[in-house]
Amino acid sequence: AARKLFLLSGDGIGPEAMAEVKKIIAAMNKTGAGFETEEGLVGGCAYDAHGKAISETDMEKALAADAVLFGAVGGPKWDSVPYEVRPEAGLLRLRKDLALFANLRPAICYPALADSSSLKKDIIEGLDILIVRELTGGVYFGEPKEIIDLGNGQKRGIDTQVYDTFEIERISGVAFELARTRKNHVTSMEKRNVMKSGVLWNEVVTQTHKAKYSDVKLDHMLADAGGMQLVRWPKQFDVIVTDNLFGDMLSDVAAMLTGSLGMLPSASLGAPDAKTGKRKALYEPVHGSAPDIAGQGIANPIAMIASFAMCLRYSFGMVAEADSLEAAIAAVLDDGLRTRDIMSAGMQEVGTTAMGDAILAK
Ligand code: NAI
Ligand code: MG
Repeated sequence: AARKLFLLSGDGIGPEAMAEVKKIIAAMNKTGAGFETEEGLVGGCAYDAHGKAISETDMEKALAADAVLFGAVGGPKWDSVPYEVRPEAGLLRLRKDLALFANLRPAICYPALADSSSLKKDIIEGLDILIVRELTGGVYFGEPKEIIDLGNGQKRGIDTQVYDTFEIERISGVAFELARTRKNHVTSMEKRNVMKSGVLWNEVVTQTHKAKYSDVKLDHMLADAGGMQLVRWPKQFDVIVTDNLFGDMLSDVAAMLTGSLGMLPSASLGAPDAKTGKRKALYEPVHGSAPDIAGQGIANPIAMIASFAMCLRYSFGMVAEADSLEAAIAAVLDDGLRTRDIMSAGMQEVGTTAMGDAILAK
């Protein structure tokens, strides 16, 4: 059967980075990969075309695809459009309708970049960790969520952290399964010392481990201590599983271990389909639309290309192809090619297209 990809390039540097992935898809199709691609509009460009951040037709195509590749959305042009149709609403709608509850953020340090980091080389050289963040629950969504006027000149802002057993079970299941394909080690992070949801999180992860994944090494760490350990000695981790709020912060901390935003891929996965066993999935770079450099041909396409490598790995089980794409990225960096955001002395500065071409050639 064909492998159905739905491409939503979005705004700013989104289409520039996606163009490099399209070249790779076309090359793979020449050797029989059988990708069928369709393209849609999301974000500001979708708003310009039909007044919504994503159309219903494109939502249907996203739901029907095996995987969605997403570029980036937003930009100053749309800063004052109504809140419900702002560019980010397109991404939020996709996450919600595809029920993408697991956000995967790898932090990998490419050997060629270990020297140019501001961090000590021995701390990050060879770093390869994966943060699995719960994306659809927790304090960002729990009710009540409001600002109450207390009437005495005081107001009260309320957010509520809520997690149910099934949510913790399914996110920890993803983490354990991914760990089996890596170094077989999961560290779960919460704050059970001060939060009831943390107590439950710890309990459910422990039970899930015992019931189905006892072959995987499991550690528990308080999330604040985890943040400290991420900076102190990140190589102690393989897979980190944590909630929406802690995951938001810890994955940004981990991101900075490896350097530029232009290097960071991500994947968001949903539950397996009851019939086919296939998960809905969306792959996107961590960076935004970078309006400051859009249209100049200097954006780093590696985050987008590495997101496609995750797509090969997680949506299509094309592990060898994913490995070789990631190896090609590393090899091009070894050769000294750099886009401006990762440029350092003695290296060769190239634009978006040249970087994509070099990776494809490898
Ligand atoms: P940004 O990630 O777009 O840019 C931050 C800085 O990093 C900029 O200086 C940019 O030039 C640089 N940068 C980012 N990606 C790069 C790449 N691939 N190559 C070279 N340099 C790169 O974040 P910012 O500036 O806060 O937001 C810009 C717009 O993007 C806003 O409208 C924001 O709402 C939107 N945004 C969209 C996201 C998404 O689509 N998922 C995520 C984050 C922001
Ligand atoms: Mg964040």
